[in-house]
Amino acid sequence: MKIPLIKPFINGDIKKKVLEVLEGGFLTEGAVTKKFEDVFANYVQAKNAIAVTSCTTGLEIALRALSIGPGDEVIVPDYTYPATATVVTIVGAHCVIVDVDATNMLINYDAIETAITPKTKAIIPVSLFGNPLDYNRLNHIKEKYNLFIIEDAACSLGAEYKGKKVGSFADISVFSLHPRKFITTGEGGMITTENNDWADWLNSYKHFGMAMKNASREGTQFDMVGTNYKLSNVLSAIGLGQMEHIDDLLTRRKLLAGRYNDLLAEFVKISFPKIVHEGMHSFQSYCILTPMRDKIMNTLRPQGIEVQIGTYALHLHPAFQDKRYFTLAGDMKGSTTSLNNCLTLPLFHDLSEMEQDYVVKKVTELC
Ligand SMILES: Cc1ncc(COP(=O)(O)O)c(C=O)c1O
Repeated sequence: MKIPLIKPFINGDIKKKVLEVLEGGFLTEGAVTKKFEDVFANYVQAKNAIAVTSCTTGLEIALRALSIGPGDEVIVPDYTYPATATVVTIVGAHCVIVDVDATNMLINYDAIETAITPKTKAIIPVSLFGNPLDYNRLNHIKEKYNLFIIEDAACSLGAEYKGKKVGSFADISVFSLHPRKFITTGEGGMITTENNDWADWLNSYKHFGMAMKNASREGTQFDMVGTNYKLSNVLSAIGLGQMEHIDDLLTRRKLLAGRYNDLLAEFVKISFPKIVHEGMHSFQSYCILTPMRDKIMNTLRPQGIEVQIGTYALHLHPAFQDKRYFTLAGDMKGSTTSLNNCLTLPLFHDLSEMEQDYVVKKVTELC
């Protein structure tokens, strides 16, 4: 039996939407992208959503929108995808990498406070795998030290805190639409913010710096130097089609995740990442923590079950040991434990209970 880690949700209706764009001939960013942005903003209850080419480019221009650059410091967690940290270097700021809490693999809030200096301008916490952050705690730090928070929400579309969707807790939140995410456009990203001025700036910046308000073909004006991070109508049609099913897709993921939890609960060598009080995990990735991780991974993969590590511990990679651009603040024990113990199991909308039972049997045989 071959069981993939993830499968994108593509149905006939989505294919039809893409075909309509192709036949319509307007392939670059346009009305379909605008609709996708509106639907996305409405879903996460954010005032503004700006589609971009990836979460990485979205994080980069979020930093630019806040005028963060040379001379500034930005704090990021060690246990994350490299993009969280590289964007800081790309805008010319200095990246300070701090440890995570091994019980939930999220940024360690005490470590943030220890790493703050007069140069610190922002924090990029990551709601990793769809696990929401402690926004109360983060906002307390933000207020106390007068910082910006840019949430790397790459994995957390649909996650909630205190009954509210992730997407408006930070100054700016950035989502990924890469195929590992359950709403995917192949490649793509979405920025959300409550601040209309930043939204206007971001929208203009990703359109080559074009004045977007009252813009017409005849009267195009470039107000600033910008770039091209637009998301095409073709890709937006996929996202738009998927957004119509997001509630069902999320319900299914939560059900399957709950079933994994129940089936694995009795095994002492397995534990589950902690979720903040009043938080709701969206299970973009279903992860367990186990000292048997490598053994399980090496046994299941040859048997056709695609399992995966969680993510990366940046401090172990040469790129992040370059002291000109990065400061490694702390011993990274939490991150190292997460790196060694986190295992991602298959989870997608049409994973059957029989397939799930098979995965659980194979995992628990080794525990
Ligand atoms: C936490 C995190 N941040 C950023 C990214 C980068 O996202 P993208 O591929 O959309 O640039 C990823 C990708 O998986 C991620 O997991």
